[in-house]
Amino acid sequence: MTSHPHPADPATAAALASSHGPLAFSVAFDPRDEDEVLARWRALLRSNRWSDGDQTREFEALWAERTGLEAVAFNNWSGGALAALDFIGLSGETALSPSNTFLATPRSIQKAGGTVVFYDCNRHDLCGSFEDFVAKAEQHRPKAAWIVHVGGHIAFDIEKIAAYCRENGIWLLEDCAHAHGARWHGRAAGSFGDVGVYSFYPTKTISTGEGGMLVTGNPDLAAHARSYRDYGRGSRYRIQGMNHRIDEFTAALGVVQTRRLDDILAWKAAYARDVLDLRHPNRVRLPDGMTSGYYKYIVFDPVEPSTGKVYELPCHRILEHDVTLPNTEWIARNHWCVPLYYPRDRS
Ligand SMILES: Cc1ncc(COP(=O)(O)O)c(C=O)c1O
Repeated sequence: MTSHPHPADPATAAALASSHGPLAFSVAFDPRDEDEVLARWRALLRSNRWSDGDQTREFEALWAERTGLEAVAFNNWSGGALAALDFIGLSGETALSPSNTFLATPRSIQKAGGTVVFYDCNRHDLCGSFEDFVAKAEQHRPKAAWIVHVGGHIAFDIEKIAAYCRENGIWLLEDCAHAHGARWHGRAAGSFGDVGVYSFYPTKTISTGEGGMLVTGNPDLAAHARSYRDYGRGSRYRIQGMNHRIDEFTAALGVVQTRRLDDILAWKAAYARDVLDLRHPNRVRLPDGMTSGYYKYIVFDPVEPSTGKVYELPCHRILEHDVTLPNTEWIARNHWCVPLYYPRDRS
């Protein structure tokens, strides 16, 4: 049986680094959790409730507790994003998106019938720039905007951007796909704007294979999302959603994974602090009070080995928008990711 020393034990990370070399990619799953996952799946196999049942409720309750918000589970990030944008009523309207993100972010705006306007990022945190956010908002008067917590820390300009959105009636959506466990002065990702959406895709800090979680402090948005994921059931089909339900097997895995999340975060933080920080002075530097989930460990020098870039090609180039985003272009050329994965086998 694989041994798992206490994750916060600094010697663990250092010993691992010297004995194993660079960490190879592995889906974050702790072998100690196998029995519980299998027991939950066995109970489900013997039950007659394979969708929309107790496992889903339990998974949602854990994320509600973590974020202090209502939580609605989805089959993936897309489902949560589309539900939120449908509530906002984005069709025919404009929304801002950073370009340094996965295509999912601007694509969700397009799929909701909106027009995408890209804004630039900062070089030091890779996330949305307040200055360019305001410039684009003044010029294009958007109804909504995405901010993305790139790499696992919270966007450093989040408080300024959230305050500006509140003052100017702009709906602020947080793309929390990378931000499991991220906090700033105790506040979780997803709690700064109107709504946040997490992803549980296999590369993420914890995974359920496929899966997503919408979190919001707005009870009307939460109710809309619950109905949207189920073809508008519960709203007399007035809400024109499709099927974005999570199944009970996936939700059961989500419960077990979420219970393990704090160990995974503590282990990654110890490895970053005790091993990687000593080797990489030219890296993203976290401000006071920031806890990163360390989805990625980002440096500004070429390194070997590297897992490459968070994103190679900015979205404004993929979608061929004629816009100048100098920091986004700079970031695409000048950052690299050092492998930082929660290893299964540490024997
Ligand atoms: C920033 C970002 N947003 C959205 C997504 C989409 O998530 P999903 O694969 O769950 O739809 C991803 C990656 O998967 C992502 O990295």
